[in-house]
Amino acid sequence: MPLAPCANPRMASRILLTILLALTLSGCPPKPIGPAGPDGRPLTWPEMNIEQRKALMKSEVVPRAGAIFKEWRPERYAKVDCTLCHGVGDYTGNYHMPTDHLPRLSGELLLGPERAKYPDTTRLKLNRLVPEMAATLGVSQFSLITRRGFGCYSCHLGPQGPMFGHT
Ligand code: HEC
Ligand code: HEC
Repeated sequence: MPLAPCANPRMASRILLTILLALTLSGCPPKPIGPAGPDGRPLTWPEMNIEQRKALMKSEVVPRAGAIFKEWRPERYAKVDCTLCHGVGDYTGNYHMPTDHLPRLSGELLLGPERAKYPDTTRLKLNRLVPEMAATLGVSQFSLITRRGFGCYSCHLGPQGPMFGHT
């Protein structure tokens, strides 16, 4: 079946390729995960205000991310609260991420230095924390192609500051 009325097969495959590329590059739009907005439709993470974000952090992020840390190192992460990720931001009210409270990462796209020096935490984060956080917030995971999305640098800074589209 031709994709477009006037397309020859070569054209058609080029169109298909363009569509596929556009889909990969744009990622998925944020999913509704919050309370209902003014029009009754549940809000996405980017649409939520600070109070709504705090509430989601408390009801979903702390338990779900906390469980992952606790299972990994039960003694060290016996008590997980907002300060685990936000540090003193939890007292000053500055919840901006990524934050200097966490160790800075190398900035290497493929995480070579992190995999070499911290294999356990890197594996845990890649396989469990990043997917869980992205699903909780209803946003796309970091993509190596677009270099955008929820990933290590949603929490951690790079050597010179925020990276991969974070501010
Ligand atoms: C496991 C790590 C983690 C924990 C624990 C955590 N947060 Fe967050 N928080 C994040 C990340 C990551 C973001 C940024 C998400 C994004 O937009 O990419 C964020 C964003 C926020 C924001 C939005 C900030 C802004 O500028 O829009 C608020 C508010 C917030 N957190 C409050 C809290 C509160 C309150 C708690 C405790 C109840 C908490 N967080 C616990 C990781 C965490
Ligand atoms: C939701 C937030 C979040 C995300 C996403 C995240 N981390 Fe972390 N990371 C943390 C927290 C919190 C700590 C510090 C825990 C502590 O204080 O014990 C940490 C600590 C680390 C450390 C230091 C470990 C140590 O033993 O000193 C490394 C290395 C690290 N993360 C790498 C990564 C990599 C690589 C990724 C992506 C694959 C990643 N992190 C994604 C929150 C995050």
